[in-house]
Amino acid sequence: MIDDDVLIGPRLTLRAPRLDDADALFERIASDPEVTRYLSWTPHPNVDETRRVINELFNVGVERTWLIELRDGGPVGLCGWRQPQPHAVELGYCLSRQWWGQKVMSEAVMLLLDEAHSDPRVYRAWAVCHVDNTASARLLERCGLAFEGRLVRYGMFPNISTEPQDVMMFAKAIR
Ligand SMILES: CC(C)(COP(=O)(O)OP(=O)(O)OC[C@H]1O[C@@H](n2cnc3c(N)ncnc32)[C@H](O)[C@@H]1OP(=O)(O)O)[C@@H](O)C(=O)NCCC(=O)NCCS
Repeated sequence: MIDDDVLIGPRLTLRAPRLDDADALFERIASDPEVTRYLSWTPHPNVDETRRVINELFNVGVERTWLIELRDGGPVGLCGWRQPQPHAVELGYCLSRQWWGQKVMSEAVMLLLDEAHSDPRVYRAWAVCHVDNTASARLLERCGLAFEGRLVRYGMFPNISTEPQDVMMFAKAIR
């Protein structure tokens, strides 16, 4: 991602994560087992791992990650998408527990949908969440993605089980 690829909403700025965000990201998000419970990765053991992820994994290839910054609140979350096919983006996101339930991620996801729509090649935005992840399901519906079905044994959730888990698929046609 180019450094000036910034998305601005009423309360939020979405920008590329930098190495000097590592301490805040580790403390607020990456080390918290409640935040990572339904994610595809386990909590980071130390801030060095957060630095490595910022350096080596974010914004590589078809993956785009924005850091969510609250005005006056600093880094509070991450969001972005993977784009394995040019016509569709798969959304992902996580937020510091302190800010849950205040519509922060609703604002961030709406910014992502606007940004995806600005690319004329993108027709579909979608996301899957673990069947027990009610907060994520409600968020997606609130942002206009419709429930498309339950996909059995679809995803790996290393904090839940060693066996693949059922997920809910949500999607929206953006043109
Ligand atoms: C999922 C997550 C991003 C939601 O972010 P958030 O900023 O708290 O969500 P919002 O405040 O924008 O709320 C969006 C909707 O979800 C609902 N919601 C949020 N948390 C909820 C919860 N714990 N239980 C039920 N509904 C919940 C809100 O009420 C709102 O729905 P409404 O419009 O009907 O009131 C946040 O809980 C999180 O980071 N969880 C851990 C990481 C994660 O699971 N990521 C998703 C992986 S698929």
